[in-house]
Amino acid sequence: MSEIVRFSVSLEDDLLEQFDKYCQQGKLATRSEAVRQLIREKLTQQAWESGSAEAAGTLTLVYDHHRPQLHDRLTEVQHDNTDLVVSTVHAHLTHELCLEVIILKGPADKLQAIASRLSGLKGIYKADLVMASAAEGETHSHD
Ligand code: NI
Repeated sequence: MSEIVRFSVSLEDDLLEQFDKYCQQGKLATRSEAVRQLIREKLTQQAWESGSAEAAGTLTLVYDHHRPQLHDRLTEVQHDNTDLVVSTVHAHLTHELCLEVIILKGPADKLQAIASRLSGLKGIYKADLVMASAAEGETHSHD
């Protein structure tokens, strides 16, 4: 378990005002919580670039149910990557639209790659990958 360390930050008052608005809008309880979240996001993002970090995430896809072979292609890519795909939830949104949420876990660069492959298929209307670090020692502390 990591120890909590305090440090002080100097910044312009107008920047702090904007930051407080950001905290309010994001419903963040304290400035500390917001700073922690931003630091974590930045470090996680940096680790993605190196590709070495263990990550977990969700890929949300909205797609055309009537597009020939799209559903088969989506399933095929997932079957080819069972080491990365943890689980899939499918919802039939309307007569034409499907929503699929794919839970992924593995090296960040591989998650990015499979997400690009799936998102790039013809007939996908919306694709959104959200990733979080799944590496040891980066657990969240609540206080
Ligand atoms: Ni469906």
